[in-house]
Amino acid sequence: MKGDPSTRGFSTRAIHAGQHPDPTTGSVNVPIYATSTYVHDELGVHKGFEYARVQNPTRSALEANVAMLEGGVSGHAFASGMAAITTLMTLVKAGEHVVLSRNVYGGTYRFMTQVLSRYAVESTWVDTTDLANVRAALRPQTRLIYIETPTNPMMEVTDIAAAAEIAHQHGALLAVDNTFLSPYLQRPLELGADVVIHSATKFLNGHSDVMGGVLIPRAQEHGEWFAFVQKSAGGILSPFDSYLILRGIKTLAVRMERHETNGRALAEYLAAHSKVRTVLYPGLPSHPGHQIQKRQASGFGALITFDLGGYDAAKRFLDKLEVLSLAESLGGVETLTSHPASMTHASVPPAQRAELGITDGLVRISVGIEDLADLIADVERGLAAV
Ligand SMILES: Cc1ncc(COP(=O)(O)O)c(C=O)c1O
Repeated sequence: MKGDPSTRGFSTRAIHAGQHPDPTTGSVNVPIYATSTYVHDELGVHKGFEYARVQNPTRSALEANVAMLEGGVSGHAFASGMAAITTLMTLVKAGEHVVLSRNVYGGTYRFMTQVLSRYAVESTWVDTTDLANVRAALRPQTRLIYIETPTNPMMEVTDIAAAAEIAHQHGALLAVDNTFLSPYLQRPLELGADVVIHSATKFLNGHSDVMGGVLIPRAQEHGEWFAFVQKSAGGILSPFDSYLILRGIKTLAVRMERHETNGRALAEYLAAHSKVRTVLYPGLPSHPGHQIQKRQASGFGALITFDLGGYDAAKRFLDKLEVLSLAESLGGVETLTSHPASMTHASVPPAQRAELGITDGLVRISVGIEDLADLIADVERGLAAV
C-alpha cells in the first residue's frame, strides 16, 4: 500500500505496517534475506546494513510491524519469548529488585529464581490483582514491576493503568506480557505500560510452527538498549522465522475474532456443565477480573482453565479427546489442551503450585479456530469419561 499505515485501522496495519514492495522486483511480501553479511560499496560506505546479528531487513520489517500494532517506538525480535524476557531483564542491575505477578509463565519464574537471582537481582512475587500487594512489595531498589494479564493458567486479571501509575510514582517501570491477548485485544502501552512482551510463538504467529519473542518499548532509550543487547548478546530471531511471524500477523485480526467467539462459547458451555467445578475465564461475568478486563481490553481471549477435581479425572478427560490435542503451548489455530501441574508449571515447586491454586485437577484449553460444534462435541466426549 502507499502512504503511512499508522493512520489506518488495525487489520490494515497488521497486513502492511513495516512492509513495502520489494524495491528490486515489486514482490508484495518482504523477501527472506538469507544472509549473514552485506557487501560495502566502498570502504566507509554501506547501505545501512553491516552484519546480520545487528540488522536484517526481514527482521526489521517484523519489528516495525509489531511496534506499530502495540504503539511503541520500536520492536525487537528474539529467538523465543524467553529470549525477549531475559533481554528485558537486562534493564535491571545487580542490587535492584523486581515485583512480579505471582502466577506468571513458569519459564519466567524459573529464569528469575534460578538464573537472575545469581546476579544479585531480587524478585518478589505477589497477587497483582490486588494492587495493595504491589505497593507493599515496593522497595527503594525496585526497578521493575512485571505483570501478565490475564495470567497463565489462573487467568488472574491486573489493572494495567493502575499498575503503571504505581510504578511511575515509585520511579520504576511497568512491563506487561501481552502474549495471551495480542495487540488486537489489548494494548498495554496505551494504558501507561513501559514495555510490552510477547511470546510471538503464540497468537502473533498463530500457526504453531515457529518460536519467537518480541519486546516493544514506549521510550527511545529502552529501544536503544534492547537493540544494543540484541547486538551484544545475540539472541535474535532468524530471517526465516521473522518471515513466518510477519505472515502470521497478517491474519491476526480475523484469527483473534474467531478465537474469541469460540473461547466465549466454550467457556459458557463448560461453566454450565455439572462435571466441571470451576471455570476460569475473564469473559464470564462471575470472573473476579471481568470488569477490569472489559475496561482495558476489547475481548477476553481464548484461554480457559477449569477444574475437574483431581489428577485421575483430568487424565480421563484428556485421554479421551480427539480434536483437542494434548500439548504445551497456546495461541495456534488448532485447539490445544494441557495439564498445567505436570506440564507448563512443573518447574514451580508443588507447595507454591498449591498456593497459586494450580491443582492436579486443573486443565487449560487454548481454543483454536476450528468449528465450534466439533470442539464442543470433543469436550463432551472427554467429560463423559470423567
Ligand atoms: C505468557 C507467556 N510468556 C512467555 C512465554 C515464553 O515464550 P517462549 O516459549 O516463546 O520462549 C510463554 C510460553 O509459553 C508464555 O505462555
